[in-house]
Order: sequence, then C-alpha cells, then structure tokens
Amino acid sequence: MSYNNIKLAIFGAGRWGMNHVKTAASLLPHENIIVFDADPKAEAKVKTVSEKISFSSNLNFENCLYYFSAAIVSTPAETHYQLTKDLLNAGKHVLVEKPITLYSNEAEDLLNLSLNHNLNLMVGHVLLYHPAVKKMKEFIEQGKIGKLQYIYSNRLNLGAIRSEENILWSFAPHDISVIQYLVGDNPAGVYANGGAFVQNTIEDSTLTILEYPNNIKAHIFVSWLHPFKEQRMVVIGDKAMLVFEDSLKTEKLKFYKKGFEVKNGSIEKFESDYEVIDFENKMALSEEHIHFYDSIINSTKPLTDGQHALEVLKILEKATKGLKRNSGIME
Ligand SMILES: NC(=O)c1ccc[n+]([C@@H]2O[C@H](COP(=O)([O-])OP(=O)(O)OC[C@H]3O[C@@H](n4cnc5c(N)ncnc54)[C@H](O)[C@@H]3O)[C@@H](O)[C@H]2O)c1
Repeated sequence: MSYNNIKLAIFGAGRWGMNHVKTAASLLPHENIIVFDADPKAEAKVKTVSEKISFSSNLNFENCLYYFSAAIVSTPAETHYQLTKDLLNAGKHVLVEKPITLYSNEAEDLLNLSLNHNLNLMVGHVLLYHPAVKKMKEFIEQGKIGKLQYIYSNRLNLGAIRSEENILWSFAPHDISVIQYLVGDNPAGVYANGGAFVQNTIEDSTLTILEYPNNIKAHIFVSWLHPFKEQRMVVIGDKAMLVFEDSLKTEKLKFYKKGFEVKNGSIEKFESDYEVIDFENKMALSEEHIHFYDSIINSTKPLTDGQHALEVLKILEKATKGLKRNSGIME
C-alpha cells in the first residue's frame, strides 16, 4: 500500500524516538515527516536519516497543524497525557508510546477523547506486532496447545537503569500486553513483589503474578540487575507448550509436545523432541507503523488501541500498589 497521503509528526527524537524516525523514513515520503524535539541538538541526528525530514524545537505545533494528520508521541512518559490530549483535540490520529499515561484516569480521558473525535488512538505495545507473537496467538486459537494453563515471561538484562521509573514500568508493559493478548481476558487478581538495590526507592527486579478466569495463571519476572540478557516467554497448554526466546539468534520459537495425561486412572507423562516454528522475518516496529497507517486509511480499530493500553495500565497500577507494600497481597 502506498502511504503518500500520510503526513506524520514525530514528537521526541531520543533513544527510542529515533527508531520511529528511521522506521517512518523507510515507509513514507521524507517530505511528509516533521520531527519535534525540545532539544535543538536532536536536529543533527534527524538530518542524518534524511535532509528532507523537517525539524522543529519549537513545541508549539499550533502553527504547523496543516502540516500533518497523524502523530507519534515518543517523549518521556510524564508528557504523554498532555501532548496526546492536545494532538487529539487538534484532530490528529495518535500513536503514543507505552505507557499510554502515568494514571488510568488520564488514559480513560484520552480513550474517550479519541472516540468522541472519531480518531485513532494507538499505543506502542510493539511486541503485539512481532511475527513470533502473532504465531503464538495463532497456535493458541487453533487449539494446538490445548487448554491454555500458564504463561511466564522473563525480561532480564544488565543496564539501561532509569531514575524516573522502576523496572516494572520500564520493561513489564511489554509482557503484560502480550499476556493480555494471548489470554484474551483481564486478570481477576494481580500480586507483585520486588526489590530496590541500586537506587533506594526504585525497584530493580520485580515479580508480578496474574490470575485470570478459567484457571489461567501467569507471572512476569523483570530485572535490569541480571548478569545476562534473557527474553523468554513460555506458554503452557494441556496438550503442548511454546517457548519464545527473542534473545536467541536462531530457533527463537519452539513447540514442545509435552505434558501429562490421565491413562487408565493414572497420570502419565508424554514428551517428544521440540519443533522449531518458522515465522515471518519482519521488524515489529515496521509492522506497528504499517498497522497505524492502515488503521488511519481504512478507519479500523488498531490492535493496541486505547482500551488495550488502559487495561495494561490498570494492571501496572495494581502491581505497583502491591510492590509499594512490598508484599504479595492481592489487590
Ligand atoms: N516500545 C518500546 O519498545 C519502547 C522502548 C524504549 C522506550 N519506549 C518509550 O518511548 C518513550 C521515549 O523513550 P526514550 O528512551 O526515547 O526517551 P529519551 O529520554 O531518550 O528521549 C526523549 C526525547 O523527547 C524529547 N522531549 C521531551 N519532552 C518533549 C516534548 N514535550 N515534545 C517533544 N520532545 C520532547 C527529549 O528532548 C528527548 O530527545 C518513553 O515513553 C519510553 O517508555 C518504548
């Protein structure tokens, strides 16, 4: 599809925002892109992508409203609410980075605003556009793993420590978003615990437990205080299991026919060698952009819409309450 008619403003050309700039430049005519960043020094980085991309460090976009119809917000989380609100009020479709906002009442506000103005509000829960995650969803829907029972996700590494947010808010939105997508429901119970070691009040490691209806359970272990990188998601069903390890170079997605079954009144184990599952070699961020542009052109609801992001945020809030009490009390 040609995206010549999409005119895009990108707010924030920082570490992640530059990925949006490069991705947009791979899909849209460069003259259709304008980047706003509070820091004038960001202009040089943007111009290395293309001289034809416009840049402004004047954040008052009122004078440039005619220039774009859609916007990507990739600024720090505390600015998401006001900026997205201003953009929606100005009649622009918005793709805002995760977390959508810091508080669920603000996310509800944005969601209602987008619905009232008939505009697309999409959130950058990028893993839902990863071809391997789509493949896992397909396997679950086709009944290949049987009844879904348990999901866990480890997102571990050393570094990229932040002082404005803890590890839960930095890493776990991705895992929560994928688990919500795979389960297709909202949890009845959210428990969390964690530890702050490097900075006094900012957790470096957290463990969040999610309890879904129909006896489906999940846990998420995230840490930036860990000796090696591991991004592993394990999905257990009563007929088979899936393992997705994005941190591996090859064999990222595996299917295991393993488990237990009752035979003649006794519980017996069944197991066989794993099978490597192929998936399309596509960049999740490019797929996310394509989904955003298509949803604007076709007036369709994005997969990671405001409602999806709101549910993710509510889980983050419940987990945070549990964390702050530093116990595993059910919310
Ligand atoms: N989806 C993902 O996988 C993913 C990965 C990393 C970060 N993120 C999210 O992306 C967002 C940005 O993260 P980052 O790591 O790039 O941050 P960053 O601090 O590196 O960059 C933020 C940029 O925004 C600019 N800025 C601040 N306020 C602004 C405003 N009002 N208007 C325009 N520019 C403004 C700053 O000058 C800076 O260049 C955060 O919400 C973060 O959670 C998402």
